[in-house]
Amino acid sequence: MSPLLAAKDIRKNFIIKDDRTPAQTLRAVDGVSLDIAPGEVVGVVGESGCGKSTLGKALLRMHEPDGGTILWKGEDMTAMSASEMKALRKDMQMIFQDPFSSLNPRKKIRDIISQPLRVNKAGDSDEITRRTEAVMREVGINPAYGRRYPHQFSGGQRQRIGIARALALEPDFIVCDEAVSALDVSIQAQILNLLLDLRDKHGFANLFISHDLSVVEFIAERILVMYLGRIVERASKTDLMAKPLHPYTKALLAAFPVADPSRRSMKKQIVVGDVPSPLNPPTGCHFHPRCPLATDRCRETYPPLVEVAPGREVACWEVSGYN
Ligand SMILES: Nc1ncnc2c1ncn2[C@@H]1O[C@H](COP(=O)(O)OP(=O)(O)OP(=O)(O)O)[C@@H](O)[C@H]1O
Ligand SMILES: [Mg+2]
Repeated sequence: MSPLLAAKDIRKNFIIKDDRTPAQTLRAVDGVSLDIAPGEVVGVVGESGCGKSTLGKALLRMHEPDGGTILWKGEDMTAMSASEMKALRKDMQMIFQDPFSSLNPRKKIRDIISQPLRVNKAGDSDEITRRTEAVMREVGINPAYGRRYPHQFSGGQRQRIGIARALALEPDFIVCDEAVSALDVSIQAQILNLLLDLRDKHGFANLFISHDLSVVEFIAERILVMYLGRIVERASKTDLMAKPLHPYTKALLAAFPVADPSRRSMKKQIVVGDVPSPLNPPTGCHFHPRCPLATDRCRETYPPLVEVAPGREVACWEVSGYN
């Protein structure tokens, strides 16, 4: 199946300036390639600051990439004009962590949810009301509550409202950026199940970003692990959880409670230290200062992302077998 979205070598830099130091380049996303098939759920995991949100926004051109190409249904999205992009935007939506800050507190929720339909002139007012109420029902919000304001809802309900707004125009692709991170664990499962049900029904593809591997494991079919702006490992969820290859992935896995007893005996490897600043990344493999396997080569040269088995890639000199 040809990919819905195919990104190649995406780069996004931020120029950091303050009064005392000269301008510096922060490589937030540093050469990331990925494909997403129609209807596929791809998870992106990694610690804070590793570039997950920047990647998600760059893929939608909410952040203009500094390099690389993005093919959307085979067409080069990076070359599209603002008006071409505008027409495309309704097919791609983003859902954020904190629905409270992304929902206008002074608007009734039915106006929030119907806004994309109105902006895109998706029908006359009866049609817009019909579609708004239908999408509210789909996410489990009673249309009778349409005149209420966001603060009158719980966190989980507000995220349902955010999902309804994203879903209103029937997009082909939704980026969820920490969409359940602010919610209680029991509510997280409800929202993740809702997203999976909606995906089954509507067939949208989903890039699901989270710092929490257990959340990504729940929802995604394939997982990308990011560290300081780059993909360090990519695999199906099953392969990644059963046999993580990159020392960073192993550390992430060791850091969360495991329900499956067969994995409990796995030697614990807790990541030591914090993520280094992307303004001044370590030489060679960016992970080497925290890595139990690091050698001189790791300190000197960044390892390529190598396919080690069908659908499995890893960027590590010590485990990829690449020389
Ligand atoms: N608008 C910006 N201007 C300057 N630097 C930025 C900007 N946005 C992000 N960064 C920097 O880029 C790097 C990657 O940030 P990003 O928000 O993409 O990480 P993340 O993986 O989403 O982290 P988190 O889990 O905390 O959301 C960080 O060092 C961050 O400080
Ligand atoms: Mg983020």
